[in-house]
Amino acid sequence: MSYLNVKIDLTKKFIKSNLKDYQGRVNEVHDMIHNKSGAGSDFLGWVTLPTDIQSEMVRIQAAANKILQQSETLVVIGIGGSYLGAQAALDYLVNKEDQKMEVIFAGHQMSSGYLNRLVKYLENRDFSINVISKSGTTTEPAIAFRILKELIYQKYGEEAKNRIFVTTDAKRGALYSASVAEGYERFVIPDDVGGRFSVLSAVGLLPLAAAGYNIKEMVKGAEHAMVKYHQTDIEENEAYKYALVRYLLYKEGFKVETLAFYEYELFYLGEWWKQLYGESEGKGGKGLFPASINLTTDLHSMGQYMQDGPRFLIETVLSVNKVSKDIKIPFFENDNDNLNYLAGAKVSYVNKQAQKGTIEAHYAGGVPIMEIEIPELTEYSFGYLVYFFEKACAMSAYLLEVNPFDQPGVELYKSNMFRLLGKPTK
Ligand code: PA5
Repeated sequence: MSYLNVKIDLTKKFIKSNLKDYQGRVNEVHDMIHNKSGAGSDFLGWVTLPTDIQSEMVRIQAAANKILQQSETLVVIGIGGSYLGAQAALDYLVNKEDQKMEVIFAGHQMSSGYLNRLVKYLENRDFSINVISKSGTTTEPAIAFRILKELIYQKYGEEAKNRIFVTTDAKRGALYSASVAEGYERFVIPDDVGGRFSVLSAVGLLPLAAAGYNIKEMVKGAEHAMVKYHQTDIEENEAYKYALVRYLLYKEGFKVETLAFYEYELFYLGEWWKQLYGESEGKGGKGLFPASINLTTDLHSMGQYMQDGPRFLIETVLSVNKVSKDIKIPFFENDNDNLNYLAGAKVSYVNKQAQKGTIEAHYAGGVPIMEIEIPELTEYSFGYLVYFFEKACAMSAYLLEVNPFDQPGVELYKSNMFRLLGKPTK
């Protein structure tokens, strides 16, 4: 039994080909990843990141301890891959009740109302900032940083310098230059690790360590997944099995993959996953559209469509075997709400039955269903799962014959926006 299981029985009747016939192609893509011979091969640093990051762990933890000592709140400024991983982990781990400090995100959108509220809130909080941008030039975090920098200097004077932590490129970009000029402590996003593959670098690890989580366990989980998913056999390598099945379903005409979860704590993992797959695969007119459904909530909004709408949907259920906190349904003598038939039952039990019932119903409605089973929501499992999805993503994109590591389509909105804003061209 593996630490993480991928169940594919409920996809089989939708796929005409035999999975085993693709073992040769999977072997080829595996070699492309490990020999760095595919498109975008300059961005394969995440493959060995769980071991490569070890040398940085002491400094990351020391900075985290300093942040924790001097502040009540850490503001993490970043967008896309520069914030989603940390946000996903904070939610994923919330029931452990280990969080020692408040973490607030900024620069992940440009709502002026949000920034206004944040500035007012921070006026009365002791805070530090971790600003994260690989390029160092992204508009949303740059604006948020400028606004919060004004506040932090007004509040702490020159001491503010000790409260600003920068995570960026090793030697390029406006953020890099500013951090050198002003003497902020700096962490590097390796050149060969793209934003959406960077959560296990200082990008995710510094905010998570500051929040009080055990980043060593997280990296250990990823390291174990790295070893496990180094093999090519699709029966043994669940990441490759998942990648291959979603690719074959795509070839059968399925166009949307919904990541479905029944634990509310997985909401932002869904957002992180959407970025990983959407930005890595949606190119050249190809790629499954990654969506997510938060269940059972969305059964009361999207359930009808899932059951009965056009049949181009795949459902991938992310299933947690053991919840960390449970609660029993009480017995009421009068039973006015007719719920005594569930008295004494745990809510997690009811949730599991909802999951089983929904899987049966959606499958009967013509939706191919995969299940990814993880034992529990811990730092270790988060690291393991992140690596699983990253490895699967590289395999899946290369099967589709797209470069997983670029995002050329994101540039057009930026150049339009800069033109409209009158940004000077250098
Ligand atoms: O995956 C990516 O590369 C992007 O989504 C980036 O993470 C995002 O655009 C933020 O970029 P940066 O870290 O350069 O500010």
